[in-house]
Amino acid sequence: MFFARSFFVASAIGGALAQISGLSTQCQNTLLAVAASPQSVCLNPSGLLQVFLQGTTNSVVTPVDTWLKGLCALGPCSNDDLAAIVTNVTSGCSTDLQPVLGNASPGSLTPLVQQIYPTVRKAVCLADNSNNKELCVTETLTSIQTNTGTLTIDKLLQIVPAIAAGEANSLNGTNLCTPCVKQFYNVAESGFPGIFGPGTTVASNVQTDCGSSFVDGASDPNIVETASNSTSASGSSGSNTSNGCGQSTGQQALLSAFLLSLLALAA
Ligand SMILES: *[C@@H]1O[C@H](CO)[C@@H](O)[C@H](O)[C@H]1NC(C)=O
Ligand SMILES: *[C@@H]1O[C@H](CO)[C@@H](O)[C@H](O)[C@H]1NC(C)=O
Ligand SMILES: *[C@@H]1O[C@H](CO)[C@@H](O)[C@H](O)[C@H]1NC(C)=O
Ligand SMILES: *[C@@H]1O[C@H](CO)[C@@H](O)[C@H](O)[C@H]1NC(C)=O
Repeated sequence: MFFARSFFVASAIGGALAQISGLSTQCQNTLLAVAASPQSVCLNPSGLLQVFLQGTTNSVVTPVDTWLKGLCALGPCSNDDLAAIVTNVTSGCSTDLQPVLGNASPGSLTPLVQQIYPTVRKAVCLADNSNNKELCVTETLTSIQTNTGTLTIDKLLQIVPAIAAGEANSLNGTNLCTPCVKQFYNVAESGFPGIFGPGTTVASNVQTDCGSSFVDGASDPNIVETASNSTSASGSSGSNTSNGCGQSTGQQALLSAFLLSLLALAA
């Protein structure tokens, strides 16, 4: 029975990956192996793959919510877990990632991912007590969906780069100046002051859009952190959260490359 179930899950996931256009067979097999590895448990990979099982017409909002709730309830990935995941994915998917990463060696992204991960995890696990403790990601995606129609994977992948590029009209008037988004900004600023802190281009753009109170660093008491502090997510012990102080523009470029590579992987 265990085998039957594993086989069913593996074939369902394989089918989902095959739908993601353009991923090489080698890369798909690598992602399946990584998802099945105990070291990736901390990313709740089965929940993530459910997001891709939605096909091209269904909304991703609920599966993303389920994936993140599961992830936030687990302890964080250790640096060793992240290193294994990044090394395996970048080597198994090197052909697919070549346009984004060039010929960077498989392990070279590891320190960057280890540096970004704690901040991203903190951000995606924020919840809004004034809205039934809904995750801030879910609240924000729901509001975007209300204004732009069903948020499919394809649409999400169009919208994220548009937001990153400051093309706010792609959101059809969605108000992003909310307490949740303000706290995303606060978390990003404390993790990467060189990119989001006072005096940066990002800070001045955000201030123009949402007003100076948005960048005052104050937290809304309704917005709470739900990321579990337990250390028992996977077989490896201990997390080592680095606090990315003093980012250089080189790191900013790498950060963009990494985010783009995630998008490329998902596209
Ligand atoms: C990475 O690959 C190695 C060698 O194939 C394997 O032992 C390990 O379990 C893999 N780890 C992950 C997280 O995929
Ligand atoms: C914006 O809203 C209008 C009217 O509701 C709709 O027709 C249009 O498709 C929306 N645009 C986007 C980008 O979602
Ligand atoms: C984890 O620890 C931080 C810092 O001590 C705390 O602010 C946060 O509320 C804790 N998270 C949970 C889910 O208990
Ligand atoms: C965490 O990382 C720092 C700097 O890389 C290192 O000095 C320290 O020993 C690490 N701690 C653990 C528990 O791995």
